[in-house]
Amino acid sequence: MPNQIESKICQSDQQGSTASANAISKPFGIKALDEALNKTIKRGNVYEVFGSTGTGKTTLATQFLVEGAKEGNKGFIIVTDSSVEQYVRNAERLSFGFRKYRDEGLIEAIGLSDRFWSLKWSATEDPKNFGRYMEDTTEAIKKLASESNAKRIVIDTITPMLTGDRFDISRFVNSLAVKEAVVIITSGISNNDNSLGYERNVVSGVIELKGTSTDGTKEARIVKMPGTHYEGPIEYTISSEGITPVSSEKVHSMLRIIR
Ligand SMILES: Nc1ncnc2c1ncn2[C@@H]1O[C@H](COP(=O)(O)OP(=O)(O)OP(=O)(O)O)[C@@H](O)[C@H]1O
Ligand SMILES: [Mg+2]
Repeated sequence: MPNQIESKICQSDQQGSTASANAISKPFGIKALDEALNKTIKRGNVYEVFGSTGTGKTTLATQFLVEGAKEGNKGFIIVTDSSVEQYVRNAERLSFGFRKYRDEGLIEAIGLSDRFWSLKWSATEDPKNFGRYMEDTTEAIKKLASESNAKRIVIDTITPMLTGDRFDISRFVNSLAVKEAVVIITSGISNNDNSLGYERNVVSGVIELKGTSTDGTKEARIVKMPGTHYEGPIEYTISSEGITPVSSEKVHSMLRIIR
């Protein structure tokens, strides 16, 4: 009997996980970036957006959640590098709909609990506590995902959650995958600590954001994403309208002049 049940579960699993069914065609609602990604972002995978301070990681992550909400998909962001209130206050100043969708319950912003920090502390103090820390944390995220039926999940930034050696980081990041959702983690630039940034080797795809000039222009590069071909960086600026590719902005301003 148990064998029969097992074989049924396996069959339905295979049917449900075809590549096209899991692909997200508009991950960010930023045409140039979505097209360059070419439907490679898939539910069940973990991706990373990394870049130095001010390059737009949090803004891009917020656009990712809003784009999901526009399609009626729920999402949540785990805010680790500021208070939830600070994050929400800033995101509400963005014009592309964060406030509306959060008010409608399609986007939730969540902080880390005291219990999280005490588990993390004990894992950092003694490696034998790592397993407990990882299991409790990833289980809490998966529970949140299944209870809210979230299709898009962000952890901004992942850095305070990572502890231990490269093996621990690999296990932790792998265990963040949620079958029904796309998970995006963000990360700053790694310093001399070799373990920092190691998660980029483990995730399914990586987008790098770079500040390139003093005029505020930045660029996004898809540095790792099986299924995309390299098209060169996408230049963008950030304003209250979020991340806007420079070329389309130029076209818009030209149109405004013509009209
Ligand atoms: N609500 C807003 N209105 C206008 N511009 C904004 C807004 N929020 C962010 N920006 C601009 O976008 C830039 C990038 O902000 P963002 O918080 O996304 O960067 P980040 O990569 O997450 O930085 P950090 O590593 O410090 O978290 C800011 O420096 C600011 O110029
Ligand atoms: Mg940020």
